[in-house]
Amino acid sequence: MTKSSQIVKNGLEQFAEFSPSTPRVFFAPGRANLLGAHMDYNGGVVMPVALSKGSYVFAATRSDNLLRIRSRQFEGETVELKISELHPQRANGWAGYIEGALWATQQRWQCLQGLDIYVDSDLPIAKGLSSSASVVSAVVKTVACLFDIDADRDEMIHLAHLAENRYVGVRCGVLDQTAIFLGEQDTVLMFDCLELTRVHLPLDSSAALIAIIDSQVSRELASSEFNIRVAECTSALSTMQKDVPGLTCLRELSAKQFAEHKNKLSAVEKKRTQHVIDEVQRTRRGAKALRANNIAEFGACMTATHYSLRDLFEVSTDELDILVKASTDVEGCYGARLTGAGFGGCVAALVHPQAQAEFEKHVCQTYQQRTNIETTVQWFSPAGGVCEITI
Ligand code: GLA
Repeated sequence: MTKSSQIVKNGLEQFAEFSPSTPRVFFAPGRANLLGAHMDYNGGVVMPVALSKGSYVFAATRSDNLLRIRSRQFEGETVELKISELHPQRANGWAGYIEGALWATQQRWQCLQGLDIYVDSDLPIAKGLSSSASVVSAVVKTVACLFDIDADRDEMIHLAHLAENRYVGVRCGVLDQTAIFLGEQDTVLMFDCLELTRVHLPLDSSAALIAIIDSQVSRELASSEFNIRVAECTSALSTMQKDVPGLTCLRELSAKQFAEHKNKLSAVEKKRTQHVIDEVQRTRRGAKALRANNIAEFGACMTATHYSLRDLFEVSTDELDILVKASTDVEGCYGARLTGAGFGGCVAALVHPQAQAEFEKHVCQTYQQRTNIETTVQWFSPAGGVCEITI
């Protein structure tokens, strides 16, 4: 039995313990963003992949306006509320993400009449693999399917994003939800967050696998520091707008305009803006490289992104830096960077399949020696997006 079929089997058993109905089952993946770090809310280009691990939702409708929510992640506790009680001020912890998705779908579709819902995930939680956007997206898909709503993927992306922004209060861009809904096997999604274009570029899994290495340091500061980075970029933008007419996002600022006007920015804003300007160039180089099947060049861009996140965006940690250095020291590793917002969590590396064993040995041993922390490597190739699982 595969890991996912084990999760489905356990989920069905857990569901039967708290609901008399037969559930339908939905899956949404996690994601790793390979290039385009902190670019979505700056109107830039992002280049994520969906992963084969993610969130599983087991759900059945009720007709008494009650929402009964359980998750393996809240250890047997059942959250019970009326639909009318869904409100952003309730948002609390893990349940807040599920409630947020129900709130956003109800605001838009007015379809809920009651639900029993059980959630499980095989993604490490809060490790930069988008466990939260994954669960929110899976619940949005669940509601659309259970209530026969004819929603396209853009509408579901929008609602999943709204749930995190308005209910949970994280000012994220649309990177995570877009990667989750639009991910396709063996491709990197190139999504332009300003022009809204999407292209799937090839990533041949016989030449490159994605290694995810967990620093085992959880992202304590992630949501507060993340919101601060968003605010710093917003403030840099509004200063630049005074000198550059028509500028709508930092991604549109040219290197020349930045050089001319950067003395108006604070030291911190200068660094954040420099990261954005450089990342615009890296995503261009990276896209060109993937189109030419030049994975080495794409990987070099990923590593350069990591060092920019460390020095200019200041979202890395010592542990993530050690993992990136250990990864890129292995012959056969094309490049590595922290994945997600930063402040802890995981590193994603692109590695030739023949170097897998050597990579695991070197990275885990070096990390143990340098930090005294044990870690493991998980292997992925780009996977498909959100779906219903037939049981
Ligand atoms: C988090 C956010 C995304 C994106 C990344 C950084 O994952 O949820 O919207 O901003 O950080 O690239």
